[in-house]
Amino acid sequence: MDRIEAEPAIAIGDDPAMQVDADPAVEFDLSGYLLSRQAVVESHLERALMPRYPEKIFESMRYSLVSGGKRLRPVLCLAGCELGGGERELAIPTACALEMLHTASLIHDDLPAMDDDDYRRGKLANHKVFGEGMALLAGDALLSYALEFILLNTRRVPADRLLRVMQTLINRVGVSGLVGGQVVDVESEGRDDVDLATLEFIHSRKTGSLIDAAMVTGAILGGADEDTIARLSGYARRVGLAFQIVDDVLDVTSTRQQLGKTPRKDEKAHKATFPSLFGLEGSMRQARELVDEAKRELAPFGGRAVPLLAMADFVCTRTS
Ligand code: FPP
Ligand code: MG
Repeated sequence: MDRIEAEPAIAIGDDPAMQVDADPAVEFDLSGYLLSRQAVVESHLERALMPRYPEKIFESMRYSLVSGGKRLRPVLCLAGCELGGGERELAIPTACALEMLHTASLIHDDLPAMDDDDYRRGKLANHKVFGEGMALLAGDALLSYALEFILLNTRRVPADRLLRVMQTLINRVGVSGLVGGQVVDVESEGRDDVDLATLEFIHSRKTGSLIDAAMVTGAILGGADEDTIARLSGYARRVGLAFQIVDDVLDVTSTRQQLGKTPRKDEKAHKATFPSLFGLEGSMRQARELVDEAKRELAPFGGRAVPLLAMADFVCTRTS
């Protein structure tokens, strides 16, 4: 396979949005920061899947991967790497792999056997275009491709760090993470007795796991010490839960145009959500409290944490 380029599409030194060591009180240009990071990730994802025989599976994988998501997990991974003390180039293959893993989970999540959604990221869901069999296989393929992608493309990272990155990702995707959360989500559908502990279990696994993996792997790749890794993980777990609470709220309040997927699915599927337990305002209050807690984890990092502080706030103000 092609090796991804070591050179970033946008050099850090040229990009004002990357100058984050300045006075945190100065207004931070989050949108410029996100756009520049997303562009780096996008350019690498674009080249990550070169079609070969059998072309159909590459077409299906590419259809869902290169489709303009928010790229939150890759951006967090790059930020974790830099906060941990490394150059962001070290984390680019892992950042891309995180998006592949996330995309794999969304392809499967949309299947009729799961959430049965026809739309994702503003276009038809993978199985609506390629059929259920190919969509299943595209998810499977992205899962293993992601891990192989890290091993084939990561440069200048000691083997013990890389091993820890792989172990973290495998753990967060499997029964202790995404799969475990999704299992309880599926089992809870249509039930009236889903309590807060169960809901938190679902959300922290099916969404929080990969957000946590993004921060932790970024920090490991950057050579962070254990205290930094633990703080970034604490930040990620809170932001991850807040992100899913807001997702539940947007499912009630937003349109398909805004979301790029079908709204009001949770109610139709009779799913327990934060709004169903606490109402819209109560849910947003909890999301904001989690974001405040997440930000407190970053206090020791001062101005270096400004992008992560801004991203935490963004979780509660986003509309899609
Ligand atoms: C979306 O949640 C679903 C997830 C974030 C996780 C889905 C996990 C799996 C299918 C198991 C793991 C599978 C692989 C291939 C790793 P949602 O349904 O609440 O949000 P939505 O409205 O965006 O669909
Ligand atoms: Mg879904």
